[in-house]
Amino acid sequence: MSPSSPFVTEDWSQFDPAAYLDEYYGDLGSENLALMRFLAEACRNIPSGGRLLDFGGGPAIYPLISAVTCADEIHFSDYLQANLDEVARWIGKAPGAFDWDPFIQTALELESGTACSAEEVHERASQIRQRVTRLLRCDASCAAPLQGATGEPYDIVMTNFCAESATADRVQWHVYMSNIVSVLKPGGWLVISALKGASRYSVGDASFPAVEIFEDDLVELLDEAGFSRKCLDVQSVAADRPTRDYQGLIFAAAQKTPARTD
Ligand SMILES: C[S@@+](CC[C@H](N)C(=O)[O-])C[C@H]1O[C@@H](n2cnc3c(N)ncnc32)[C@H](O)[C@@H]1O
Repeated sequence: MSPSSPFVTEDWSQFDPAAYLDEYYGDLGSENLALMRFLAEACRNIPSGGRLLDFGGGPAIYPLISAVTCADEIHFSDYLQANLDEVARWIGKAPGAFDWDPFIQTALELESGTACSAEEVHERASQIRQRVTRLLRCDASCAAPLQGATGEPYDIVMTNFCAESATADRVQWHVYMSNIVSVLKPGGWLVISALKGASRYSVGDASFPAVEIFEDDLVELLDEAGFSRKCLDVQSVAADRPTRDYQGLIFAAAQKTPARTD
């Protein structure tokens, strides 16, 4: 935690989207490279087609870059209207919107294994803008966590640094995760990233709560939540700078047990 972040707040109005983007997505260090590689691999390996939800996406569109390779339609959600507004600014090509082009270029190169052109980056950005059909408010503490959604479950749910980064309470983390996966179809795929060994995380001058979890905690939770161990891939990477309030990142792709047909 920086010296100017003396306490952890749960006042989410202090979450500054621009400061967050600068702090965590201002460069493509080893954490972000591992994250983008994981997302490219996960989207390659899960069955393609259908509707995808990004739950608690914050102001960040990076998961959608590879998501367009496995989903026909994307809904993007966050707890804060300010974050949805930031995403809407990128979709609307507003002046000063965050520049995701370096992340798009990296994702394309990870997907194909070859260098990509500026034109290809531009094409992928257009594809993402077309594929995102809804921006929704969400609240993982609610049994029906999506506001204004049709209620029809999704084929794929992505959720990155959301449930464990929205509370410091382990029981609450379980509740949040259970509500999030409730909007995933039986047989659907969950693609999740989480802070590993975190005590909190800073955003500008504020610090927000996090639950201290490790790979085994996530595996146990997914097991309890009805995900098949046979279709579970868990990876992790160490934090790439000593100033972080977490030890690293955990990534997992898991299939929800399909509905019984008998
Ligand atoms: C660390 S950010 C992660 C943002 C983004 N997914 C990413 O990968 O950078 C945590 C996010 O959790 C959201 N959040 C906070 N409370 C929440 C809640 N009760 N339900 C859902 N999301 C919440 C915040 O608005 C914020 O966007």
